[in-house]
Amino acid sequence: VSLKHLNTFGVDAHARWFIEIDAEDDLKAVFADKHLKSLPHLVLGGGSNMLFTGDYEGLVIHMNIHGIANRIDGDDVYLTAGGGEVWNDLVNYAVDHEFAGMENLSLIPGSVGASPVQNIGAYGVELMDIFHSCRAFEISTGIMRVFTREECNFSYRDSVFKSEYKGRFIITEVTYKLSKTFIPNVSYGAIQQELDNRHIVSPTIKDISTIVSYIRVSKLPDPKTIGNAGSFFKNPIIPVGKFIQLQSNFPDIVHYPSIPGFIKLAAGWMIEQCGWKGKVSGNTGTWKNQALVLVNHGNASGNEIFNFSGEIIKSVQDRFDIALEREVNII
Ligand code: EPU
Repeated sequence: VSLKHLNTFGVDAHARWFIEIDAEDDLKAVFADKHLKSLPHLVLGGGSNMLFTGDYEGLVIHMNIHGIANRIDGDDVYLTAGGGEVWNDLVNYAVDHEFAGMENLSLIPGSVGASPVQNIGAYGVELMDIFHSCRAFEISTGIMRVFTREECNFSYRDSVFKSEYKGRFIITEVTYKLSKTFIPNVSYGAIQQELDNRHIVSPTIKDISTIVSYIRVSKLPDPKTIGNAGSFFKNPIIPVGKFIQLQSNFPDIVHYPSIPGFIKLAAGWMIEQCGWKGKVSGNTGTWKNQALVLVNHGNASGNEIFNFSGEIIKSVQDRFDIALEREVNII
């Protein structure tokens, strides 16, 4: 089975075996089957955070569980969605129903089931801010388990599902806690700037969603036309001491507050400083408006993109003594 349309990089990799999951019971059936259970497996949602560097010689499990429901309790809204729902469809549902909390996360590619795994985040909001709980299938026991927000141990682009429980659970459903009261989050400068441009004084949920979508479209390539997986690297988080040293050599270095004692650096800035912004290298390159995004200009293989990312890591290391970490999963 070709996975070309199941990964936003548009890399033409193949899966040896492929199965579509429409319900939790399907997962139980797969892992109760002696043969299927013995195969190496890969869980695929929207394929928006993956780079295939070759064919997958195992079973690809494509999550396709659907359904959206809401429960209102006073001011709180509990919005529950199947893991296979498209993330942005859910955001639009919330915006249309005037449920507040997700609007800054508009237009992020990918699925609901993947959203907690790497704690997706953008424009001043992280998934952990609105996450309530999720249901997950435990592969070793075949039992469904519920994870609360605390149990997910979220941090920047990280959760238990990427660390201690990596590969042990498959998320089937997520519940988000939203609100009927709307307090706009305009902490990301460009949102306020765009509100001013549009002369909007008291924005609606829809206004914020529209503006975030506008900002994304202006900076990020649309995976439907140019293959990409959003930010390819994480923004590095470094101890304050190291930062002060770095800043004395690079006074303009772009940085943000992080957890106490640490500073977050803008990887895109460092990559641009190394001369990579908008660079085309064979079938791959960095995006002209955002150096943190690697793109497939046509028929790039996963290996070509991976090797190119290695060159970027090396030059940032040489110039800034910072080790960039890939945010995208390499398969
Ligand atoms: N910058 C440059 N050159 C570039 C890109 C960025 O100098 O080519 C500098 C600019 O100073 C800019 C700053 O870096 O102001 C930050 O750039 P931007 O606001 O575009 O955000 P980012 O840090 O590059 C992160 C997330 C994005 C998210 C945006 C907005 C990560 C790895 N990426 O990118 O998430 O949309 O903030 O909140 O944290 C993703 O994870 O796939 C993703 C797109």
